[in-house]
Amino acid sequence: MEQTEVVKPETLDELIAILHKIFESDTINVEEVQNIMESYESKPHEWTKYAKFDQYRYTRNLVDEGNGKFNLMILCWGEGHGSSIHDHTDSHCFLKLLQGQLKETLFDWPDRKSHGDMVQKSQRILQENKVAYINDSIGLHRVENVSHTECAASLHLYSPPFETCQTFDQRTGHKNTVKMTFWSKYGERTPYTTISQENN
Ligand code: SIN
Repeated sequence: MEQTEVVKPETLDELIAILHKIFESDTINVEEVQNIMESYESKPHEWTKYAKFDQYRYTRNLVDEGNGKFNLMILCWGEGHGSSIHDHTDSHCFLKLLQGQLKETLFDWPDRKSHGDMVQKSQRILQENKVAYINDSIGLHRVENVSHTECAASLHLYSPPFETCQTFDQRTGHKNTVKMTFWSKYGERTPYTTISQENN
């Protein structure tokens, strides 16, 4: 069997350089990306410049545009912050915990006939440095920082990059298309617009 060499990135910059190489190819090996992201040990001094928190909701902070192949971003979750239930617009979603813990709840896609509560498939706590993976064939998820005392930061890779996704009402399964924007890009606050919707 062919053995693929796993290079351990020592820094966030090294991780980004390796990801650029991997994504030159048109076929993506999910396990390879997951392993590489997991083997980087989070060092806050390397990423705090991107980690901008907001008092009221989680923020999305762009780190790298992956030569158009992926978007790499840091999401900053204050105490009690969470996302809606959402899909991933036919993209791969890799999510690595840089700091703290996050709860991930998986849901089935609502079916046309069901009008009640969405079906919850599983729930898990994501631990520091671990990498979770989801795509639309696996289902939908909600991500939450359920801690009342600790904030959390996570590194997300989406490939191909996307700007809108669908969010779902847990009680009815009704969906909405939302635009996803960035609170900051490359460490700089993005200019304020009146229709500001930095997350879902
Ligand atoms: C996620 O998919 O885990 C978070 C949603 C987002 O990118 O805003």
